[in-house]
Amino acid sequence: MGRDPKYDILFEPIQIGPKTARNRFYQTPHATGMGTQYPAQQAYNRGIRAEGGWGVVNTEYCSIHPESDDTPWIGARLWDEGDVRNLAAMCDKVHEHGSLAGVELHFGGANYSGYEGRLAARGVSQIPSKAFWMRSCSAMDKEEIRELQGFYVAAAKRAVSAGFDLVIVYGAEASPIPLQFLMPYFNRRTDEYGGSFENRARFYKETIELVREAVGDDCGIVVRFSVDNLRDDDLGIRVEEDGTRFVEHVDHLVDLWDLQVGGPTLSEWLVAVGASSFRQENWQRDWIAQVRPHTTKPIVGVGRFTNPDTMVAALRSGQLDMIGGARPSIADPFLPAKIEDGRIADIRECIGCNICGGRVNQGGAPVVCTQNATFLEEYRRGWHPEKFSRASNSDNDVLVIGAGPAGMECAVVLGKRGMRRVHLVDAESELGGNMRWITKLPGRGEWSRVVNYRKIQIDQLPNVEFIPGKRLDAEDVAEYGAEIVIVATGSYWDGDGTNVSSRLPIDGANPQAGNVFTPEQIMAEEQDVPGPRVVIFDSDGYFMAAGLGEKLAREGHAVTIVSPFHDMFPYLSFTGEAGHFRGTLESLGVTLIAGHVLTEIHLDGVALGGSDGRTASITSVEAECVVLVTQRQSDDELYRELKRNREALAREGVVGVYRIGDCVAPRLITDCVFDGHRLAREIDSSDPAVPLPYIREHRIMGASDEYYDAILGNGPAIA
Ligand SMILES: Cc1cc2nc3c(=O)[nH]c(=O)nc-3n(C[C@H](O)[C@H](O)[C@H](O)COP(=O)(O)O)c2cc1C
Ligand code: SF4
Repeated sequence: MGRDPKYDILFEPIQIGPKTARNRFYQTPHATGMGTQYPAQQAYNRGIRAEGGWGVVNTEYCSIHPESDDTPWIGARLWDEGDVRNLAAMCDKVHEHGSLAGVELHFGGANYSGYEGRLAARGVSQIPSKAFWMRSCSAMDKEEIRELQGFYVAAAKRAVSAGFDLVIVYGAEASPIPLQFLMPYFNRRTDEYGGSFENRARFYKETIELVREAVGDDCGIVVRFSVDNLRDDDLGIRVEEDGTRFVEHVDHLVDLWDLQVGGPTLSEWLVAVGASSFRQENWQRDWIAQVRPHTTKPIVGVGRFTNPDTMVAALRSGQLDMIGGARPSIADPFLPAKIEDGRIADIRECIGCNICGGRVNQGGAPVVCTQNATFLEEYRRGWHPEKFSRASNSDNDVLVIGAGPAGMECAVVLGKRGMRRVHLVDAESELGGNMRWITKLPGRGEWSRVVNYRKIQIDQLPNVEFIPGKRLDAEDVAEYGAEIVIVATGSYWDGDGTNVSSRLPIDGANPQAGNVFTPEQIMAEEQDVPGPRVVIFDSDGYFMAAGLGEKLAREGHAVTIVSPFHDMFPYLSFTGEAGHFRGTLESLGVTLIAGHVLTEIHLDGVALGGSDGRTASITSVEAECVVLVTQRQSDDELYRELKRNREALAREGVVGVYRIGDCVAPRLITDCVFDGHRLAREIDSSDPAVPLPYIREHRIMGASDEYYDAILGNGPAIA
């Protein structure tokens, strides 16, 4: 199958200053938690994107100087020759596949921690950091501004020697210092760097000029710029005012504009990245399209582009010249290659859950992806997103019990590894497990891509069969005839109110009483919720209580949500969705009570105590119905029974019984997908229940690249 000619435009080369990108796919800078600290993982992870067809592949934000230290976050750095060598490995991997490598020069100003180097950072004005507690910066005088610009120049020169083709002068989300000069929100200066637009723009303009001069003809200059901060006051940038003015002001210095909107502070950046619960594909169009008349240079923009028709429309309409993608490239590094090969149905579309960004927001842990279990496993586990080796025990049948995210992923990977037959069995009539009803919650429709992508793969694999409507007990499993058994029976919500605060059941939480419900009873069993007044107790803290609250309120119930946390829905803050859900719920008249737990449930309401779970009841709420969103339990009965009967199973020819996903421990969907993937990748290891060791990329005295490769057992060493 070849490329549909209507997508040809996506594969036209484009000039970026002295460099030519081979197509219109631009992986925008995004953090992974690798930086220069894990150079091999950084190199392999970006290299895979180049192999998958992204014509430009960028680093994450890259600190230019030790003052810009945001430890414990792990970003790239260009402080010295060691960093040059580490990032050169990434450039080599990207160049191997004919793509351009870009680096995003970053200085955080007020947003620094100094936790590693213990230095205070210089800033625009002396203001406290919103990113780290107890941090203020020193306001620069002109001499210090010149020094800072010297840091940019030195880092740009190092970027050239590392082999980068593009240097990005970063002034976009999370507000690096050029944006802090431009935004009155940060800039309180009264000299020629503060006040009027020309003054506030002076630092950014001078810096672009100096970087341009420093890299000469060796690199293209990209300016990543936030054209609108989505603020409703006068302290930010608006596209129709300073946004387009700045583009005109420095257009002659720029080879490519990388434009986006939002994210004026570190706490807001992921809100602007945009979860699918409230942002659709290409949602930034109306802002970015306004810039076109103000520039003669090409524009790249973002907006969770996964549909090639939307991409073509964005190019043809003149909105964009290149398609930017961070999350789409994480969820499917081979997105461009699949368009090129005419394999549109095989694109593993990002679901917009923002679990990736949530990891960044939780202090810089390695990024994970709900859709792509191989993300950041390319080097340390040697997993290629599109290549699967034939299992050495492929002459076995595998029975996978439970077709939720873990079971589906496991079946797909086992199918790709050539197992003789994979029988994916579920008691329900459809694939998906809990996803069948989670995707019906408000704002969770796009999450059905988790199921749809895997259904398409299963349909294409002749050795994988989905067997619906079959509930198996231990005896059935023994008689089934498969040599390998994998239990992926998921989890269910607790009905007795045991919660993270008290660790105890709630008095009166009796599922038989007719007034207490679990999420499944409302969503999967579609039970009628009695009475006008509903209390939801949320000690889970993620999407479930907010989604149920919105649904029940829209159905006409008077809803109160009680949470032991002092911020409602804390995990939604990590994914940048808390503000959206709080606003929606408040507009629907939902009452939100933070910092309390349910101590008792009566037929006519609930008693509430303090958030520590030990305080006696202090207030009450009247309600006819209570929904408990407290904690989940693994549905592991079948697994336990099979384990007890291992010897009997062995007599029937069963050589292995394993479990994956929520059946092991209830976690995020990404963890279930990973579990299923991991087991299938290692199904032919000596004990698949125990994960194979992965390369821990850290300094081992006297170790060489060959040593690491010997552990991995494949892949060339990075020179
Ligand atoms: C996990 C993650 C990390 C990011 N880190 C950066 C970063 O280091 N620098 C940056 O300019 N943008 C960063 N971004 C923003 C992306 O480059 C991009 O603008 C945003 O995700 C919207 O594009 P998308 O819809 O294609 O994901 C990050 C986004 C994500 C999801
Ligand atoms: S974690 Fe979610 S939002 Fe992030 S890339 Fe993966 S699917 Fe998309």
